[in-house]
Amino acid sequence: MKFFIDTANLAEIKEAQDLGVLDGVTTNPSLMAKEGISGKDNVFKHYKAICDIVTGDVSAEVIATDFANMIKEGEELVTIDEKIVVKIPMIKDGIKAIKYFSDKGIRTNCTLVFSAGQALLAAKAGATYVSPFIGRLDDISYDGMDLIAQIVNIYGNYGYETQVLAASVRGPMHIIKCAEYGADVMTGPLSAMLALLKHPLTDSGLEKFLADHKKANS
Ligand code: G3P
Repeated sequence: MKFFIDTANLAEIKEAQDLGVLDGVTTNPSLMAKEGISGKDNVFKHYKAICDIVTGDVSAEVIATDFANMIKEGEELVTIDEKIVVKIPMIKDGIKAIKYFSDKGIRTNCTLVFSAGQALLAAKAGATYVSPFIGRLDDISYDGMDLIAQIVNIYGNYGYETQVLAASVRGPMHIIKCAEYGADVMTGPLSAMLALLKHPLTDSGLEKFLADHKKANS
């Protein structure tokens, strides 16, 4: 399973990249705003800075919600770097735009997906990635993992090449469950990835090993 980091924070992206397990980055307008990035020039420069840190795909979201402007924005975004994947919302014009980009060989990430029907449409339009938001479903008392299982099953039935990118991941159990359920990619915060490291028996075991080594060598 690929690990993407879901942030526009350059320091966190660098820390995840340095860990050696990072496969890409996803951003969204809220995450860019959180970093105080505004204005087209600054936004484009920031995407370039992200691309210069990582080796994998970087999802950059369009702001337009009509077909013509989504195409215009997406075609500009992909000039930033070959790692850019155009992130497009799951709306009617978004599906048309995904189909347009797919026909042109431009990679897309269909975002704000909350149902299997939406995921099916994204795959049929030729999206490179589909992003079901599992954390936000959990927030409203639906099981986000059920949706991952459903989409993985449906895509498997027909051999769709669209990769299931589990988004809105909040913690380590989401990551583990995504791997169990066969998601192709998960995107989450650095804290969720680092939480995978933790086990009390690792800490106490290491402490004992080092204490025994010290005793034997003193
Ligand atoms: O980038 C999209 C998605 O991962 C957002 O996550 O935590 O805002 O629900 P969250």
